[in-house]
Amino acid sequence: MQSRIIATGSHLPQKIVTNFDLIKTVDTSDEWIVERTGITQRHIAAEDELTSDLAAAAAKKAIANSGLKAEEIEMIIVATTTPDLTFPATATTVQAKIGAKSAFAFDIQAVCSGFVFALTTADSFIKSGQVKNALVIGADKLSSIVNWQDRNTCVLFGDGAGAVILQATEDQNPNKKRGIIASSLYSDGTLNDILKTSGGVALNQKTGFIEMSGKEVFKHAVDKMVKSVIATLAKAGLTTKDIDLLVPHQANLRILNAVATRLELPEEKVIVTVQKHANTSAASIPLALDHANSQGKIKDGDVVVLEALGGGLTWGSVVLKW
Ligand SMILES: CC(C)(COP(=O)(O)OP(=O)(O)OC[C@H]1O[C@@H](n2cnc3c(N)ncnc32)[C@H](O)[C@@H]1OP(=O)(O)O)[C@@H](O)C(=O)NCCC(=O)NCCS
Repeated sequence: MQSRIIATGSHLPQKIVTNFDLIKTVDTSDEWIVERTGITQRHIAAEDELTSDLAAAAAKKAIANSGLKAEEIEMIIVATTTPDLTFPATATTVQAKIGAKSAFAFDIQAVCSGFVFALTTADSFIKSGQVKNALVIGADKLSSIVNWQDRNTCVLFGDGAGAVILQATEDQNPNKKRGIIASSLYSDGTLNDILKTSGGVALNQKTGFIEMSGKEVFKHAVDKMVKSVIATLAKAGLTTKDIDLLVPHQANLRILNAVATRLELPEEKVIVTVQKHANTSAASIPLALDHANSQGKIKDGDVVVLEALGGGLTWGSVVLKW
């Protein structure tokens, strides 16, 4: 049994906040932000636009693109750090909003690595024969946990959602197998402190704001994502030379470029959306994937690599054949 992405979808809030808008409220400049991050703008959700709204909009597009009916979805996973409520899981709200009556639904919290963790989890459910059609969503309203007075962090993040339909496929010619070939997930909780929020349910009953040691995160991000990609390719019997397309977590253009350089990938093999989306956490990979897919940049049989690192620290990668 193999699991294959048969459709993608994404959604971005209407409101765009440019670097020039931010200059009006914090001591920063367009030059500083572009030079250090590549980011020029980010989409920001309205106050009453919740993570489940972003997720449901992306999910509806993915379902429409798959040709399935919502009732045929058996499992929904939402990767998010910004759930609508402390409980129930945002995935159950999405289930109700899209009418996926037959599905069971739960959230995964692995911050910016959330989509890689969720996709790998769904892949395991499919490979073990428990589920045929899974909806995997990465959705975040990070603007709700950003301190808009803190220039160290507020320039980096945005809101959005991306979704994929993962489907079981059988009876393939082993030489032409398509779908998820290998994945690797990692965590190191001793690095909790370098990227975290200042609040939490049990700690102080507050959601808190994002706090980050930028340089430390940068260093770990490049090193760990490169090693993870090489390890996952090796599990799949492949090397970096086999990569047709890298769809990285969109945190920062300098991190993306450093990873691509270490993997010896030319620019045209790397999907970059961070300039327009900023860092949308769990949403960034499925947003970038849908962007590439809808522009016809992914061909049947392409070896596609997804990789991410986020708070925890958590990190990992997925190798798949499109
Ligand atoms: C955050 C990041 C862009 C900062 O870049 P950097 O090259 O490390 O920044 P530097 O340490 O050289 O510069 C910091 C200086 O810029 C200032 N600064 C920070 N944010 C600024 C902003 N938005 N505008 C202007 N100046 C800013 C700081 O106050 C500091 O000033 P000081 O030296 O007077 O104290 C970078 O560390 C980074 O991208 N880290 C990874 C972040 C990330 O992607 N996290 C999410 C991972 S999922």
